[in-house]
Amino acid sequence: MKINLSRPEIDLKEYKSVKKIFNNKWLINGPNVKSFENGFKKKFNYKFCASVSSCTSGLELVLKTLNLKKNDEVILSSFNFIAAGIAVKNNHAKPVFIDQKKNSFDIDFEDLKKKINSKTKVILLTHFNGYLQNSIGVRNIIKKTKHKIFFLEDCAHVLAAEHKKNIYSGSYSDAAVFSFGPTKMITCGGMGGMVVSKNRELIKHINILKSFGMNKSSYNRKNEKKNWHYNIKSIGANYRMTEIQAAFGIQQLKKVNLFKIKKNQISKFYKKNLDKKQLFFQSSNFTYSSALIYFQMIFKKSKIRNLIANHLSKNKIGISVHWDPILEKHDIFKTKKFCKNSYDLSKKILSIPLYPSLKRSDQIKIIKIINSYFKIEK
Ligand SMILES: Cc1ncc(COP(=O)(O)O)c(C=O)c1O
Repeated sequence: MKINLSRPEIDLKEYKSVKKIFNNKWLINGPNVKSFENGFKKKFNYKFCASVSSCTSGLELVLKTLNLKKNDEVILSSFNFIAAGIAVKNNHAKPVFIDQKKNSFDIDFEDLKKKINSKTKVILLTHFNGYLQNSIGVRNIIKKTKHKIFFLEDCAHVLAAEHKKNIYSGSYSDAAVFSFGPTKMITCGGMGGMVVSKNRELIKHINILKSFGMNKSSYNRKNEKKNWHYNIKSIGANYRMTEIQAAFGIQQLKKVNLFKIKKNQISKFYKKNLDKKQLFFQSSNFTYSSALIYFQMIFKKSKIRNLIANHLSKNKIGISVHWDPILEKHDIFKTKKFCKNSYDLSKKILSIPLYPSLKRSDQIKIIKIINSYFKIEK
């Protein structure tokens, strides 16, 4: 039997929550979205938040509030998911890629400092697989420069991870965006996102932009005399979260602590039992508590990574690489130079199954398949 790389943990709770919507027929701009937003803010101590259709759309909208011009630069990691790159491209700004530290998931601060200049308008920091980057460090670098730079975080991979006790991912930046895709810590039935910020005006702006740019949503004008009337002051998009997505989210939010604990337990078991001669594991100096998405291995040689990936696939174990290629190797960016450490890392990593209900017997099977390969190779 195949063991999948990830598995959304949804059950009767989500089913019943969604079923209520079949009865009340309220599909958009309704009570579930409000309740999910409030629950989210409260659980992770965020000041303001706005739900959106996905993390990618949220990143795009936050950048849109900044009115970026063609030569404005956005600094982002080369080792990254494409969402951040697309958000920059869709805002017609110039992406500037920064490298990783060698054999590390942490960004290279020296490279970051070198790339800041008068054209830098945004630093878009992506966190990777449940562990946090040094967000305080980035914030301090920005404070020290004479430039006005917006600090945006892609927190798709770090929902529920803490910088310090009760200080959750996304707390040190001007805005942060989360994902509720099918493989993330929680899912809104396959898609969804949340923008958080300490800035009330920014969140208000996101709420306008996500709803075409309407100055008032249909919900907010429902009691007005001319309730059909609205004005469009800036071009927005249709990036709203639906009631069904939010109904999923409300239930998933109740399970997030358990998901985090279970994933950390499985990760500990993998770390204890995997043969460590050819590989090592993701780690971080900036994370008080991690909230993993996958289990991540870093091989000493890329050739071994590829061999193990094939070996696991042949044995019907779900694997993937998060991420290869690095962003500037995609045709849409076309840069001649590329970040070497980032490239090297992307060739050596491998993600293996990790989800709360992954059975101990399956964990043992995966460990045996990897360890036995090393034994055959000796
Ligand atoms: C780091 C990161 N950012 C953003 C996204 C995009 O999220 P969404 O599917 O919610 O747009 C992903 C998706 O996997 C991701 O891994």
